Amino acid sequence: MLRIAIDGPAGSGKSTISKILAEKYDLMYLDTGAMYRTCTYIALKYKLKDNNLIKKLKETDIILKNNKVFIKSDNDFEEITDKIRTVEVSKNVSKIAAIPEIRQILMKKQQQIAAENNVIMDGRDIGTVIIPDAELKIFLTAKAEKRALRRFEEIKNTQKTTYEEVLKDIKMRDFNDINRKISPLTKADDAIEIDTSNMSINDVINEISNLIEKVK
Ligand code: CDP
Repeated sequence: MLRIAIDGPAGSGKSTISKILAEKYDLMYLDTGAMYRTCTYIALKYKLKDNNLIKKLKETDIILKNNKVFIKSDNDFEEITDKIRTVEVSKNVSKIAAIPEIRQILMKKQQQIAAENNVIMDGRDIGTVIIPDAELKIFLTAKAEKRALRRFEEIKNTQKTTYEEVLKDIKMRDFNDINRKISPLTKADDAIEIDTSNMSINDVINEISNLIEKVK
């Protein structure tokens, strides 16, 4: 069994790194942030909150396949791959991710996937809560300014936003994710911290690959 947990704040490179490592080591990749973003998209689209939102989420399947995201319910099937990456969803996601019932629903799905597959999962609470006995835990960090710059470069051609707005969003989400009561963003005691501020994607891949070779 090989289960790799990649945690860290927004823009630290988790998803880019996880996708490459998934290919290289033939692991299933699960982007848990996409699941929280999906819940947020549903809340915004149907203007739901509290019990009504929980009910809708329980009736909806979140399907992550080939790096695409779909939602499916009795009367609905929609591809939302790009729709969950908007500034609007980003601004609201950390509030939604702090709701205990929502974390409960997603935790069950994530733990089931981790029990049945060799996986690399990225998020905020993978090493601490979802797979506390993962074979390898990585905590990726980078300076907020660097993370904002990376994210801005990624979305500037497709979304109307500024570097300043992206930096503000990242700092707000860092604050919300670190300070929430349930499953906050924190490094597991046995996670290996890598500061990617001055590293290329290749540098990070090489460093983590060396660690994988030791546990596989
Ligand atoms: O890609 P980015 O780093 O912007 O964030 P993400 O991984 O898509 O996650 C979006 C948000 O979902 C985070 O800011 C958290 O509030 C929440 N999240 C969480 O609470 N727990 C996870 N395991 C993954 C994401």
